[in-house]
Amino acid sequence: MERIAVIFLGPPGGGKGTQAKLLAKKYGYRHISTGDILREAVRKGTELGKLAKSYMDKGELVPDDVMIGLIEEVLKEDDRSVIMDGFPRTLPQAEAFDDLLNRTKIELLGAVLIDVPDEEIIRRLSARRVCPKCGAVYNMIYSPPKNDEICDNCGTKLIQRDDDKPETIKRRLEVYRRDTEPLVGYYRKKGKLFTVNGVGSIEEITGRIVEVLGL
Ligand code: AP5
Repeated sequence: MERIAVIFLGPPGGGKGTQAKLLAKKYGYRHISTGDILREAVRKGTELGKLAKSYMDKGELVPDDVMIGLIEEVLKEDDRSVIMDGFPRTLPQAEAFDDLLNRTKIELLGAVLIDVPDEEIIRRLSARRVCPKCGAVYNMIYSPPKNDEICDNCGTKLIQRDDDKPETIKRRLEVYRRDTEPLVGYYRKKGKLFTVNGVGSIEEITGRIVEVLGL
């Protein structure tokens, strides 16, 4: 079977991770979240983690050469189709990813922009809670756990991500507009951009993504 890649674009808190996990499970693709990879490295205290933390805590991006090298390695690990959540997120990353896809004979099915207005982003990110043990993601407004701030899967106390503090959310949105939004035009020019309305229930948005990608 041909190996394909789907890229999720969109602002912080737009629902990329939520949708990527669901689609990966449904179609047997590998979900590659650069944010999750970096947070794991921070937790383990590796060299990558130490470097990444200094950028992530401020809402800034980790340097392109580090991220490109990381993705090259990750793509070599197995030969499943992939859903990219959080990479590429700058023009140099997008160009390097094109080159990598060519070299590894992976076909880019499309880049899906999950479009969500800023007020909704701030509401979602301020209410996001994550499980530090199993990685489950909740939202205290839209999808709260059954028991107050306790993970439904493993009973661990939920935490707020360090970069979900109001000042850092604001900076992440600025960085998104400056560095990542230009990728919308980049993929549109290639005829690979699909935009979906990111406001609605999680199931509705999954349905919109499946439809535009023709999965
Ligand atoms: P990363 O983890 O990728 O953060 P992000 O892009 O800011 O995205 P988020 O994880 O915040 O949001 P999401 O879109 O996945 O939304 P989610 O589904 O969780 O990156 C973190 C940092 O790592 C970066 O700032 C940077 O420093 C570094 N980094 C990562 N990749 C990099 C790269 N390539 N280059 C350089 N640096 C890099 O949903 C958010 C909330 O909303 C949740 O609570 C969820 O439950 C809820 N929700 C989801 N869908 C809905 C819905 N339909 N209705 C209501 N609530 C919803």
